[in-house]
Amino acid sequence: MNANPPIFKRTKLAQRLASQILANKVGSVASSGLFLAAPRRTGKSTFMREDLRPALEHSGAHVLYVDLWSNKATDPGEMIVSTVRAALHQNANVMARLARKIGVNTIAVPGVVELSLNQVGLGVAISLSDALADLSDELKKPIVLIIDEAQHAITSDKGYDALFALKAARDELNSSQHNGLRIVATGSNRDKLAMLRNSKDQAFFGAPLVAFPALDESFVQWFCEGVDLPAPLDPKAVMALFAKASNRPEILGAAAEELRFDFELQPGDVPARFEASVLAQISSAEKETLRVINSLTPLQSAVLRVMAARQADFAPFQEDTLSAYNVVLRSIAPHETLEPDGSNVQQALMALQNKGLIWKETRGVYAIEEGSTMDLMRQQGMLDMVP
Ligand SMILES: Nc1ncnc2c1ncn2[C@@H]1O[C@H](COP(=O)(O)OP(=O)(O)OP(=O)(O)O)[C@@H](O)[C@H]1O
Ligand SMILES: [Mg+2]
Repeated sequence: MNANPPIFKRTKLAQRLASQILANKVGSVASSGLFLAAPRRTGKSTFMREDLRPALEHSGAHVLYVDLWSNKATDPGEMIVSTVRAALHQNANVMARLARKIGVNTIAVPGVVELSLNQVGLGVAISLSDALADLSDELKKPIVLIIDEAQHAITSDKGYDALFALKAARDELNSSQHNGLRIVATGSNRDKLAMLRNSKDQAFFGAPLVAFPALDESFVQWFCEGVDLPAPLDPKAVMALFAKASNRPEILGAAAEELRFDFELQPGDVPARFEASVLAQISSAEKETLRVINSLTPLQSAVLRVMAARQADFAPFQEDTLSAYNVVLRSIAPHETLEPDGSNVQQALMALQNKGLIWKETRGVYAIEEGSTMDLMRQQGMLDMVP
């Protein structure tokens, strides 16, 4: 018996993406990497693990997967390196080959390789490029590295280094001597992901950034067929609710669960109760976000509002931005005497980052952590006073 909740398979989408990723046609840009963006909790990681990975493997690729959010305490650069090390570790031939390359003695105990994995990584004897090239040569397969929540990589220097190392690896493996390396990166925020590819000094300059399609009617159909409540749900009605829930499967799941535990529920009441429960789930998630926003100091709130209104154009310390904070501050806290300046704004930004509301790239570019926060603030009129 499998106790995991069932997953709706998106095989066709996965096959299509897999063949585009592995394409080696003239003019194909997939070799620079592919970026997929979709909002939070809409099924990106599930798709990568359950659908895309098997589809790529089926098409003959060797897939490495790393979720840079899976362990927030570990440096993202370190996580990328560990993923490559783990892949080598599973392949004794590659380990032996790399050991010979750097002159490690493999004769002492035959068959036992004395290559320490610490010698593979950034700025050590064996570069990621060497390691991946040897792995791909040994397997005689292209390698696809899936980096989930890739925007996290540019929040640390080591993360940046890892991206540059991967760029070098990609250029090496995509040369005619090897079998190819494709990098697929996902993230929940388009602006942030775009930073990995927009400027020429970025590792994935020019790589295509596409909107990853949200779960659609066929998912809702599947959900309605399998939900097993005392009365069936109408897929059309559920689709409308799913759209209201920003295509987040968990909201439908939580509503169904609430109904399942209501032992007095009458079959005739199922559709109305399901709708009420979905709406309640949505509003409780919003209330939670608003509670965090409402507990900010006036300056923190002003900084967040200006950032949300300006989005990609936000420049935290410019004269014009400082005066925008001031306008907002006077509007939301008329009795506040504080004047925004470089140092208190810096503190406010740090506080917002610690609360998980904003994201900072190492070189000081900021963005709102979740797009939904921005939408919610706009809906609530919290951005109306931003000049
Ligand atoms: N195809 C699917 N079938 C059933 N449930 C799904 C499917 N895709 C996602 N879910 C459910 O939706 C929730 C969010 O999925 P997932 O973690 O894959 O999303 P995500 O976009 O990677 O989220 P995050 O932004 O937190 O990284 C999970 O509870 C998952 O079980
Ligand atoms: Mg995820």
